[in-house]
Amino acid sequence: MIFKEKVLVTGGCGYIGSHTCLYLIENGYEPIIVDNLCNSNTEVLNRIKSIVGYKPIFYELDVRDENALDEVFCTHDIKSVIHFAGLKAVGESVEKPDLYYNNNIGSTNTLLKVMKKHNVKNIIFSSSATVYGNPKRVPIYENDPIGEVTNPYAETKVKIEFLLQDLANHDKTMNIGILRYFNPIGAHKSGLMGENPKGIPNNLMPYVTQVAIGLRDHLNVFGNDYDTRDGTCIRDYIHVCDLARGHVLTLNKLHQNSGLVIYNLGTSIGTTVLELVNAFEKANNIIIKKEFAPRRAGDIAECYANCDKAYKEIGFKTEFNIVDCCRDSWNWQKKNPNGFN
Ligand code: NAD
Ligand code: UD1
Repeated sequence: MIFKEKVLVTGGCGYIGSHTCLYLIENGYEPIIVDNLCNSNTEVLNRIKSIVGYKPIFYELDVRDENALDEVFCTHDIKSVIHFAGLKAVGESVEKPDLYYNNNIGSTNTLLKVMKKHNVKNIIFSSSATVYGNPKRVPIYENDPIGEVTNPYAETKVKIEFLLQDLANHDKTMNIGILRYFNPIGAHKSGLMGENPKGIPNNLMPYVTQVAIGLRDHLNVFGNDYDTRDGTCIRDYIHVCDLARGHVLTLNKLHQNSGLVIYNLGTSIGTTVLELVNAFEKANNIIIKKEFAPRRAGDIAECYANCDKAYKEIGFKTEFNIVDCCRDSWNWQKKNPNGFN
C-alpha cells in the first residue's frame, strides 16, 4: 500500500486505537503501532489485515521506555502521533493511584520528550468526558469547567490536558488535538474487532453482551432513583467507528496548523440505562435479565455532549445510532465469545 504519512499510534492494539487504525489506513495514513499489550492482544493486527488488507507495523513496547520509543522514531519518519496508551479502569485507579499516575502521565511525558527530540509537532490525545466531573449543566460544552474530578484516572486526564495546553501556549508550532470521548460502544460491522475487556466488565455495554451470551447471569442496573426520565443514569453512547473517524478528521485539522484544538466526541444524545437495554433487546431480539441494584459510587446522573464545535470545525457528525451500536456490539460478542483469546 502507498501511504501519505506515518502516524505513531500508541495503544493501537486496544479497543479505540485498533478501530482508528482501520480509518487511518483507509484514509492513506500508515499507522505504526506501539503497545505493551497490558490490555490487548496482537490478534487484532490480523483482524485489521482481514478488513483492510494491510497488517500494520507493530512494536511491543512500553511508551515509558524512552530508548525503545526513540528507536521507533529513528526507524520511521513519523509526522504525527495519536496517543491512546493508558490505563482506564476508574475503580482500579482508586486502588492503585501510583500505577495510574506513573503509567498515564509517565508515558505522556516520555512520548512528548521523544517527539521533541525528533521535531514531531502533531499529537492527538485521548481524553474523556470524565474531566468535566459532575457537570453543572447538560449538554456539556468544551469550555465548561474541567478539573473537579473524584478519582485518580480522571485526575491523570486532567493533568495531561493541562500539560498539553501549556505546551501549546509555549510552542506555537505544535498542533495538539485533545479529544474528550463520551461513552464509546459498538464494534466494527464485520464482527472481527470489538471491545475485549479482561475479567468482569466495568462498563455497561460489555456487561450487557456478556449477559446475552450467558457469561453473566443478569445485569445489575446501578440506581433507579436518579432524577431522570426513568430513574436511571443518562450517558452519551457513541459508536467506536464514529469515534475512530473523528480522529482522522482531527488529524486533517492538525495538518492545517491548527495549534491547540479541543473537541467533545459524542452524539449529543442522552440515553438512559434502561433505554440502552431496551434498544439492545429490540435490535437483537434477546431478553436481557436485569435487576435493580444500589447506585454505583461516583456515578453522576447525566452526562452528554454538545458536539457543535467538532461539527463546525472538522465536519464531525455521527453516522451510527444506538440501534447500530447494539447490533454491532452483539455481532462482535456472538462471533468472539472469548474476545481475541
Ligand atoms: P484499551 O485498554 O483497549 O487500549 C489502551 C491500550 O494501551 C491497550 O492496548 C494497552 O495495552 C495499551 N497501553 C496501556 N499502557 C501502555 C503503556 N504504558 N505503553 C504501551 N501501551 C500501553 O482502552 P481504550 O478503550 O481503547 O482507550 C484508549 C484511550 O482512550 C485510553 O487512554 C482511555 O483512557 C481513553 N478513553 C477511553 C474511554 C472508553 O470508554 N473506552 C473513554 C474515554 C477515554
Ligand atoms: C465510566 C467511568 C468513566 C469513563 C467512562 C467511559 C466510572 C465511575 N466512570 O463512566 O470515568 O470515562 O466509563 O469509559 O466507572 N451501569 C449499570 N450496570 C453495569 C455497568 C454500568 O447499571 O453493570 C450503568 C452505570 O451506573 C452508568 C451507565 O451504566 O449509569 C454507564 O456506565 P459505564 O459504561 O461504566 O460508563 P460511565 O459511568 O459513563
